[in-house]
Amino acid sequence: MKYQLNHREVTYALSEALDYVGIDDTMHGKRVGYMSAEVAKRLGWDSERIDRIILMGMLHDCGVSSTDVHHHLVTELDWDNSQVHCLRGASLLSKVPFYTDYAEVILYHHTHWNQLPDSLPKEVKEEANLIYLTDRVDALRVQLGSTTLHDKANVRTTIQKYISEMFSEELTAAFVAAAEADSFWYYLEAESLEGYYEDWIRQSEPMAIDFSELKSIAMMFADVVDAKSPFTSKHTYGVASLARYLAELYGLSEAQQECIELSAFFHDLGKLRVADAILHKAGPLDEEERAQMNRHGFDSNVILRKIKGFHEIAKIAAMHHETLDAKGYPYHLGGDQIPIEARILSVADIFQALVQDRPYRIGLHAEEAQTILNAMSNDLKLDSAIVNIVAQNLGISYTKAMYAE
Ligand SMILES: [Fe+2]
Ligand SMILES: [Fe+2]
Ligand SMILES: [Fe+2]
Repeated sequence: MKYQLNHREVTYALSEALDYVGIDDTMHGKRVGYMSAEVAKRLGWDSERIDRIILMGMLHDCGVSSTDVHHHLVTELDWDNSQVHCLRGASLLSKVPFYTDYAEVILYHHTHWNQLPDSLPKEVKEEANLIYLTDRVDALRVQLGSTTLHDKANVRTTIQKYISEMFSEELTAAFVAAAEADSFWYYLEAESLEGYYEDWIRQSEPMAIDFSELKSIAMMFADVVDAKSPFTSKHTYGVASLARYLAELYGLSEAQQECIELSAFFHDLGKLRVADAILHKAGPLDEEERAQMNRHGFDSNVILRKIKGFHEIAKIAAMHHETLDAKGYPYHLGGDQIPIEARILSVADIFQALVQDRPYRIGLHAEEAQTILNAMSNDLKLDSAIVNIVAQNLGISYTKAMYAE
């Protein structure tokens, strides 16, 4: 199928998932995109290049899934381990046709200006250094807890201290000029920033995107989610593969199968907001921790519904923890209120989690997992028709869930 989507809108909405990693300090990527664009305008860059820097700004930290790593990045000016997320981000972007061009810039977005390899094209150096500079401005802003314009003058002075070593002289001068305007700082406030991006999105038209292109974007974000924990590596890929297989066997249309597959890739986006400590906790979660964990389907929906054309995908993704007895979450829907696509997704999600290793146990055999699915369908947690399809195709279902095809 072809999808009519606004590319700016898709990246903007999904970058929200990356910003979730900041937990309370959200919108980091959007602030970096905005500031970079303002400095780029001072430098006289053309509109195509400004667009590019905004998109790269929003995506620059796609290599960060851990809330702990995020904390280091915003509280330390020059953190020793920052290269890890640059490498990872570049590798993720290089696999997506829409974003391949950004990979090299993201690879160098924490490299000092005087250490950038001579062999890099001038444009790449400038773009990487501009992201680096505005990224550090945002980190300083957080460190100073700055609210007054006087504090913001401090940020300008601090950045200037690092001219020619960390940042190019030309870029720093353009930043200092842009940051002289009070409005430069006002735009970093959530409400104004949202308005800025709404205008930017409105100025572009939807375009036809193939399923395969959309899927590559979805897979990249699935990778970001799965990287939260070594135990969930490829969880989302396995869920997507199994869910699509079950949808096909159930007799759903090609369009529905694609919808299920995309919902599956996006279903746990909201987990990026869950603190590492909760996600990795070996023992049972307390009430507050459970509440944080249980809202992730809702948060996935908040992100996805911002994309025009994604209404159905957002809805299905949000319902993956609903159960037929209406005791699931976050909506407490039951029976017929849960569409077939969401029922398929929850069977795939649970089966994958059962057969995959977890910190507290190794993965179950297919037959053991099937026994649990049967019990859950008897308890009205899962749809028995779908559980039966798994039972009748247990070998292939297992292979799909392990993403071993
Ligand atoms: Fe970064
Ligand atoms: Fe960053
Ligand atoms: Fe989930």
